[in-house]
Order: sequence, then structure tokens, then C-alpha cells
Amino acid sequence: MVGSMDAKALTDFDLFADAAPADIAAWAQRLTPVSFGTGEPMMREGGVSDAFYVVLSGEAIVTHRVGPAPETVGTLRSGSIIGELGLLRQRLRAATVLVTNPITALRGDADAFAELLAIAGVRPRLSKIVAGRLAGFAPITPVPLKHGHVIGMRAGLPSDRPYLADAIKRMSAESLHRRFFSAGVPDHLIDYLVDIDYVDHFSWVALESPSPDATPIGSCRYIRSFEDRRKAEVAFGIVDEWQGKGIGTVLIGALAIAASITGITTFTATVLYDNQPMRSIFNRAGAHWTHLEPGVLNTEVPAAGYRDVLSPGVQQRLATVSSDIIWGAGTMLF
Ligand SMILES: CC(C)(COP(=O)(O)OP(=O)(O)OC[C@H]1O[C@@H](n2cnc3c(N)ncnc32)[C@H](O)[C@@H]1OP(=O)(O)O)[C@@H](O)C(=O)NCCC(=O)NCCS
Repeated sequence: MVGSMDAKALTDFDLFADAAPADIAAWAQRLTPVSFGTGEPMMREGGVSDAFYVVLSGEAIVTHRVGPAPETVGTLRSGSIIGELGLLRQRLRAATVLVTNPITALRGDADAFAELLAIAGVRPRLSKIVAGRLAGFAPITPVPLKHGHVIGMRAGLPSDRPYLADAIKRMSAESLHRRFFSAGVPDHLIDYLVDIDYVDHFSWVALESPSPDATPIGSCRYIRSFEDRRKAEVAFGIVDEWQGKGIGTVLIGALAIAASITGITTFTATVLYDNQPMRSIFNRAGAHWTHLEPGVLNTEVPAAGYRDVLSPGVQQRLATVSSDIIWGAGTMLF
């Protein structure tokens, strides 16, 4: 039986911020208080998915086996939910959770999880968590560039904020101006760039090599239009020393794959008149340019125009990765 203090604590968590406190308090009665000591596993990768937990206090690390060794992919603290992926996908546990500071939590079964999804205001917040975790667990796709170097490609993550801030610091004034039409990037804009929901806002990150600890060297995104759900604005940023090597071209090919899964058919962009590399990328798909204001152009191109940019093998891998993530986000949203 969950005490009224614990039920009240739940209503303060971000995950439940858009739900009615009375609904959460009533649902909490379906959960069981549990505790775990330091060093204890809350769950193990490959184990049966029979429950989820909402952490009340303490700390645990989440690891996932990418290569031969497990990688730490996150930390759980007060307010975190864990175990939801296995229940949602009806698959074995995708991660191991090891307690680093004694944990108190509330445990729920598959029925309690289904009831949680039915509470108004919970799904959109849970959707971001689920999709972000799927993106974090997804394998990195090796992508050969035209001159032979192989970069890595993975979906963008909310946890990319520090990398993004660092990459922005490394960009020249000209690149910053071309990307942001300004000399600096305010913090709230960086927050917005990592506020990814994978359905209306999808991002790919290019890594120096296909290794999990490789440095990010560029990213791209599309953000769906409110007015026309089949259109999305695209934007790119590649650190200066990696420009001109074909990364922008493969990034738009990758965006086109994710777009085809989310029903986006048209890419739109606003580009400075003298940004020849970006204009070349849009010209490849038959861009017609209109003048928005002096020195600034607009265009729309069919996303399908980038179908042949990537090899069939790379297309297949990126399609598998992105459809898994978008499925996770979409199932939760709709
Ligand atoms: C614009 C940008 C994303 C392009 O990515 P990139 O990896 O440098 O571009 P690519 O190497 O894939 O080349 C794309 C095209 O531009 C051409 N190009 C590349 N560098 C060029 C240069 N310095 N001058 C003229 N053309 C150039 C390439 O030949 C290629 O043309 P093609 O398709 O006809 O072969 C990248 O340069 C960048 O991040 N610039 C700064 C930020 C920015 O401008 N963002 C775009 C605003 S949305």
C-alpha cells in the first residue's frame, strides 16, 4: 500500500506535471513500495520485463551492451521511471540498472502501466522519455564518405546538449552566421535544439568515427511545420574542419529516411544567398529559390529527392534505427 506522502511526491515529478494530481494519487494505489541497496541490480539486460519502477529517492546507473562491454547510458534519480520500454514493446529488458545510492521506489506491473498511459497528460511526457531511450540504445551506423573516411551516424539525444554547445563554440563566425543568421547562440535556442520528440522534431548526429565515444562533428534536424504537417524545415551545422567532405549530403539523405517514416514529403529551408554548399545540397533535389529578403533565400524540395544519396545498405540500417525510435515515440503519442 502506498502512503499518502509517496503518492503526493509523485505529483511533484516532471513526468506527471500535466496530469491531475487526484488521478496520479488514485493510480499510485496500484503500486508497491520497494527498496534496493547500493550495488543491487534493479533489473538486468535480457531479463523478463514484468514491472516498471518510479524512483522516489536514491540513484542508479543504467547500462546497455553496445559492443562487447556495457556502456553507461543514463542515471536514475528521484522522479525517473524505468522498466517502461520492456512493457511497452513486450520485449526482454533493454538495460541493466545498478544502484549506486540506496533507492526507494514504487513498483507497478503491466496493468498498472496500461492504466498510467490512460491518464490524461502523461503520454506526451512519457513519449519523449521512451523515444530518447530508444535513440540512446540504438546502434551507431557506419557511413562511408566519398573519399573513404567512415563516420558514425546516430539519432540526436537530449543529452547531446554539452556536445552541441561545444560544437557551436568550435564553429567559425562565418559558419555560425550561415547556420543561425547571428554571431551567437543563446542558451534557450540550444535547449530548443535538444528538445527532440522524434516525430515532429528529428535529429541525426554525425560522429568522427562509428565508435560510441567518438566526437560529434555535425548534426542536422527537421522540425515539422504547424501549418502543413507534410512539410518540415531542415537545418544543418558541421564543424568547420569537417565541412566539404560530403557530411552535409549524407545527413540530408539520413533526414529523408526519417522523414519518409513520419509522413514528411517536403523539406523547406531558409539559406543565405552566398551559402553555396547548402544551396548545392538543395539544388541536388531540384530547388527553386525565392527571395525572402535581401541576401536571404527560401526553398522547398521533395524529401524523396535524396533517396539515392546513401547506399542501399546504409539506407536500410538508418531506416531500421529511425523507425524503431519513431515507433516508440509515436505509439506513446497517439
Ligand atoms: C552547409 C553545410 C551543412 C554543408 O555540408 P558539407 O558537408 O560542408 O557539404 P558537402 O561536402 O556535403 O557538399 C555539399 C555540396 O556543396 C558543395 N560544396 C562543398 N563545399 C563547398 C564550397 N566551399 N564552395 C562551393 N561548393 C561547396 C559540394 O561540392 C557539394 O556539391 P554537389 O552536391 O554538387 O557535389 C556545412 O558546410 C555547414 O555546416 N556550414 C555551416 C552552417 C550552415 O551553413 N548551415 C546551413 C544553414 S541551414
